[in-house]
Amino acid sequence: MKKREILLNPGPVNTSPRVQQALLRGDLCHREAEFSTLMASIRAKLLKAFDVEKNYKCVLISGSGTAALEMAVSSCLSPGRTLLVIDNGVYGDRIAQMADAYGLNKKVLSYKWGTPPDLEEIERALKENPDVEVLAVVHHETTTGLLNPLESITGLAKKYGVRVLADCISSLGGDPLDFEKIPLDFCVGTANKCIQGFPGVSFVLVQSPELERLESIPPRSVYFNLHKNYKAQEKGDALFTPAIQAHYAFDEALSEFLEETPAGRIERYRATAELLRAGFKKLGLRFLIPENLHSNTLTSLTLPEGMKYFRLHDRLKEKGFVIYAGQGNFNDRIFRVANMGEISREEFQAFLSALGDCLLEEGHGK
Ligand SMILES: Cc1ncc(COP(=O)(O)O)c(C=O)c1O
Repeated sequence: MKKREILLNPGPVNTSPRVQQALLRGDLCHREAEFSTLMASIRAKLLKAFDVEKNYKCVLISGSGTAALEMAVSSCLSPGRTLLVIDNGVYGDRIAQMADAYGLNKKVLSYKWGTPPDLEEIERALKENPDVEVLAVVHHETTTGLLNPLESITGLAKKYGVRVLADCISSLGGDPLDFEKIPLDFCVGTANKCIQGFPGVSFVLVQSPELERLESIPPRSVYFNLHKNYKAQEKGDALFTPAIQAHYAFDEALSEFLEETPAGRIERYRATAELLRAGFKKLGLRFLIPENLHSNTLTSLTLPEGMKYFRLHDRLKEKGFVIYAGQGNFNDRIFRVANMGEISREEFQAFLSALGDCLLEEGHGK
């Protein structure tokens, strides 16, 4: 096996030896009872982990997080109704792109990357557009590390009888999400970020009454039909050939998650982000967004004057650490450090020390 690199990108994350071993459970036909049992186990563990066993169902899909997101977006809207999209980063914009690809009516409220959405404007849009049926928002905008005010946004949507679809791909398991206070209708997640599984399987947590509504919507996709996938999975079937080994690993990752406890995982990530951010400040680095807007799992930092991202990336990679570039306009202005995955405090401390060395070597030391 290749030497361990510390992955400071926001997924895929470093996994534990136990999760890696689960990949090797052997060959299996997905039409056999063992796969039905595996799928049922994953679906049940997800509902338990997020404490939504009473009101939600879980629908799995083989594919990256975008697959589950596309399944939710393409399936959630009744004909003729409108999707209201909150966009303050790459992932909000991606939801709008999906709406276009499926020919859905949409209204987009766009904000500068790194800026929280304007709640008054959202309320106005909800009030003035009774055709809006679903509001879509990204919980943690991984573009910048900004945590959107999901509770306030969901509260507004509910006030106007609008459903909420949240992309929680990079927040579920890393930042708190209380479904009692934030009754999302569709919550999209993936295996290979804060839940610490492998890429290849993702999911949507859906409020049960929504599934009845979806049944009457004419299908817009064969693979990404949320209701059809749900129906099949309730009977123990997978619609198509699933990424079986990724499911094995996901099941094991969920056992680990439940053992650590979701609150324990969130606290570990919070404490790690605190350690990293204190270290970044000592090194004289500057945050892209105000500290009070940060998630628990990712920090965007401005590149020191004259420093090229690829120089920093390559030097750190030589030392065994993989950092992440900015996207779009931020490409040559920032770098990102995620703290998801199976990484020890000592390894994070070693990273800070390696980062300090690289900055010194490049003439940007403090
Ligand atoms: C918030 C958010 N949404 C969607 C995605 C896309 O996930 P994937 O690359 O697994 O398709 C990501 C990936 O980082 C993300 O952070």
